[in-house]
Amino acid sequence: MALVTTEKMFKEAYDGGYAIGAFNVNNMEIVQGITEAANELNSPLILQVSSGARKYAKHTYLMKLVEAAVQETDIPIALHLDHGDTFELCKSCIDGGFTSVMIDGSHLDYEDNVALTKRVVEYAHAHGVVVEAELGRLAGIEDDINVSAEDSSYTDPAQVEDFVTRTGCDSLAIAIGTSHGAYKFKPGKEIKLRFDILDEVARRLPGFPIVLHGASSVIPEFVEMINANGGALEDALGCPEPMLREAARGAVCKINIDSDLRLAMTASIRRVFNESPSEFDPRKYLGPGRDAIRDLVRHKITAVLGSDGKA
Ligand code: G3H
Ligand code: 13P
Ligand code: ZN
Repeated sequence: MALVTTEKMFKEAYDGGYAIGAFNVNNMEIVQGITEAANELNSPLILQVSSGARKYAKHTYLMKLVEAAVQETDIPIALHLDHGDTFELCKSCIDGGFTSVMIDGSHLDYEDNVALTKRVVEYAHAHGVVVEAELGRLAGIEDDINVSAEDSSYTDPAQVEDFVTRTGCDSLAIAIGTSHGAYKFKPGKEIKLRFDILDEVARRLPGFPIVLHGASSVIPEFVEMINANGGALEDALGCPEPMLREAARGAVCKINIDSDLRLAMTASIRRVFNESPSEFDPRKYLGPGRDAIRDLVRHKITAVLGSDGKA
């Protein structure tokens, strides 16, 4: 099967009450671990690349790794640019073989966000590529830019119809209280995601795919494993998985997961080094890192996304 866009995946996910996992990739072991789990569980898959990942691993290496994943499996796979911030970056990914791009104009004024998104959509659609846009601003860290809680803002449902109609975007990321990274909520305080905003957006955009960023759960097992092996992740806290499962049953068709991958991989590598301090063969720690990614993605597909058997 060739690389696909997200169009069919999202339609089926919307109608079927599940979501597609969009997992961030940075190297071979991450691509392999994610793909192995999705293939085993017969789940559609989105592999996504941030501009930081593209700088780190380089476009061609990532492209070839994803092409290998497509060749080795029988599942639909989309290759998506995560948090594209300029027209030029989106164009470069479209020209270079991505099937989906995100243009993140969420930090811009509304009219500037509309104009930039519309420009990307026109170019992308002319090349058979789909576009995710964002309205509202998440807190947390993206590409080393730290958005404080004060600078974040929930999506205003009153804007979504106008935004989607004028831009022609294919999916919309909204801010309902999730945030990027491993420190999403304060310990001891009630974890509140604004499902009322999600419901109102869904009511105003019937059948339209909604995207949740910052949707890692910061699984305590991995935080504990990191800390037990010399790490220091205090107060790390993420989105409860049952809340995400609930979102996936409704209009949310794409759930972005990066931090959980990083935590799972780092936990297993830290354990190898702690248990075998003289180890210096990269395969002996990257291999367990890859296995940890595979196990985590299996868990996400079955317990959170509900996309198993849907390929
Ligand atoms: O939203 C951000 C993603 O987790 C990607 O992170 O920009 O550090 O690659 P990155
Ligand atoms: P997490 O940091 O919660 O994994 O979010 C990832 C993300 O939204 C990538 O765009
Ligand atoms: Zn994101």
